[in-house]
Amino acid sequence: MEPGELVQRFAEWCGVRPSVVSAPGRVNLIGEHTDYNDGFVMPSAIGLCTRVAVSAREDRRLAIRSGQIPGEFEFDLDHLPARGMGDWCDYVVGVAVVLRQNGHALKGANLWVESEVPIGAGLSSSAAIEVACALALMELDGIALPMVELARLCQRSENTFIGARVGIMDQFVSCLGKAGNALLLDCRSLEFEFIPIPDRVRMVVCNTMVKHQHAGGEYNRRREECEEGVKILARWYPEIRALRDVSGDQLAEHEKDIPEKIFRRCRHVVEENARVQEGARRLRAGDLNGFGELMRESHRSLRDLYEVSCRELDLMAEAAEGLPGYYGGRMTGGGFGGCTLNLVEATSAEEFGELISMRYQAAMGIEPAVYICSAAGGARVEHDRAE
Ligand code: GLA
Repeated sequence: MEPGELVQRFAEWCGVRPSVVSAPGRVNLIGEHTDYNDGFVMPSAIGLCTRVAVSAREDRRLAIRSGQIPGEFEFDLDHLPARGMGDWCDYVVGVAVVLRQNGHALKGANLWVESEVPIGAGLSSSAAIEVACALALMELDGIALPMVELARLCQRSENTFIGARVGIMDQFVSCLGKAGNALLLDCRSLEFEFIPIPDRVRMVVCNTMVKHQHAGGEYNRRREECEEGVKILARWYPEIRALRDVSGDQLAEHEKDIPEKIFRRCRHVVEENARVQEGARRLRAGDLNGFGELMRESHRSLRDLYEVSCRELDLMAEAAEGLPGYYGGRMTGGGFGGCTLNLVEATSAEEFGELISMRYQAAMGIEPAVYICSAAGGARVEHDRAE
């Protein structure tokens, strides 16, 4: 929904002109399942975003609705639930809860949420909703927080209110993404750097249209397996706090001491961190073929070592090979369905999209969605009600 239409529909609902804020979804170029291991990631915000229209209320209630899902939710701001109830509005309520826990008094508010980011496709629709809603409430209440703090706050909401033990990557890039750039982030220090993505390529996102049910449970299990690896390795290297601190040599040295599955998980993370560093060098040097090779390696590692891919994602990754303008690609995001990300020469992007759709549909019998993206900017106030 365009901002103009959102303002109009909001006015019909509440009788006032709202402020409108937006926060983007993301792709991750490289560095998967490294963020919660204190490692490195290289995501980029994309042009698909969540918009939230907001206005103040006289009472102490939080009213939430969307044009995309029927129904309206209302909460008493002073008696917000402590945990999510399994509804989409959890992502909204969660950030209100965390803002209040941080000592910010909130006014009653009406919030209308519209998402262009496909839900459950691994493009961080949840982070986009969290960041947009938190920014909307901050705008309404005159709360000034640095973007890095906003990202941490939204991650905390997802960890504590939703119960998903996600890392910081999605919320961070939704807050701090920059048009035309990938964001290289050190997930321990939160230091970051922008790396320009050459103008002549597009990020072609191919949605498998599947999301496997067990995704959330498997995600949390991977985290536990990584922690298990750290615990074992710390017997020899007490200074290790996370897999980020483990070198390839240290890991290889103790292969026999680590259960086989845990070893594979650790190996993925250690090597993926190295790929992010190498990828940053190659991207800075404009070596797109070299970068594409690392994306392929990352996919294989996620498939074979970390085991978070699935048949549909593998098929989509294979379907890209040999297509015009293709530099490289891989699954992007948490896995078990969702999207692949493909780096493709801009002039070939349309054709690439049509051909990969045909190949995937012929093999899977599912029509995929294809989004041709460029790196976009982060969350912002699009429209101030005072304007
Ligand atoms: C999900 C999480 C992120 C990150 C990725 C995997 O998107 O939200 O924090 O862990 O999976 O890289």
